[in-house]
Amino acid sequence: MIGVFDSGYGGLTILRELRRAIPDADFLYLGDNARAPYGTRSFDLVYQFTLQAVRHLFDRGCHLVILACNTASAKALRSIQQRDLPVIDPARRVLGVIRPTVEAIGAATRTGHIGLVGTPGTIASKSYDIEVAKLLPGCHIHTHACPMWVPLVEYGEADGPGADYFVRKDLDTLFAQSPDIDTLILGCTHYPLLLPKIRQYVPEGVNILLQGPVVADSLVNYLHRHPEMDAHVSRGGTTRYLTTELPERFNALASLFMDEQVQADRVVF
Ligand code: DGL
Repeated sequence: MIGVFDSGYGGLTILRELRRAIPDADFLYLGDNARAPYGTRSFDLVYQFTLQAVRHLFDRGCHLVILACNTASAKALRSIQQRDLPVIDPARRVLGVIRPTVEAIGAATRTGHIGLVGTPGTIASKSYDIEVAKLLPGCHIHTHACPMWVPLVEYGEADGPGADYFVRKDLDTLFAQSPDIDTLILGCTHYPLLLPKIRQYVPEGVNILLQGPVVADSLVNYLHRHPEMDAHVSRGGTTRYLTTELPERFNALASLFMDEQVQADRVVF
């Protein structure tokens, strides 16, 4: 199975695209809903929680785990790859979402001015700034943290009037930084669940870069280049779900997002 991990529901926006890109693969999704949001937590805690989740997915038979969470990718991926994987099992892999996203922006921007919204943790980590400086020298990144957006999604308020208030306020603040921003990265996997509101308040002509298709393309490419990992991907076309919260609550929201009946199992670390 391919393991897909997020702090909560956000990773479902990545899972949806992964399934579209590799429909015959088996996926195991884990949402740490009981401890979401991660975006306002310390570096240390996000690392510990993410490592627990990765170990759990490994124990369940995943050789490859996608951190479908920008906050976990920003704060935990490097340590897990460099420090933990060699000890746990050097043949397993954990991949994140930030690098493929930055690789895709180059083709999307004409002005070279990129806007980024994300959780406070992702923005403060400067992971995007560092990758942009490395891969796209000459581009400028304008960033803004949106601490309320993930809770709106986790608590089922993505369609409510509270979401309008916060989405508008945060986007106004971001776009006030530069009139030249022509590409907006939704640097949090929860944010596509607010897409109708985001579209409403983004200035006209701005490109919105969604991570799901980008990460899916990047995974297809990765498996092509790594047949030894591809060989570990079982091909039954199934998706199973795990949550650290009550499955009933997870099932209700996840079924809406995935357009199918989701039956999750509860996991306790
Ligand atoms: N989906 C996670 C991300 O991409 C949300 C983090 C959170 O739980 O705050 O950053």
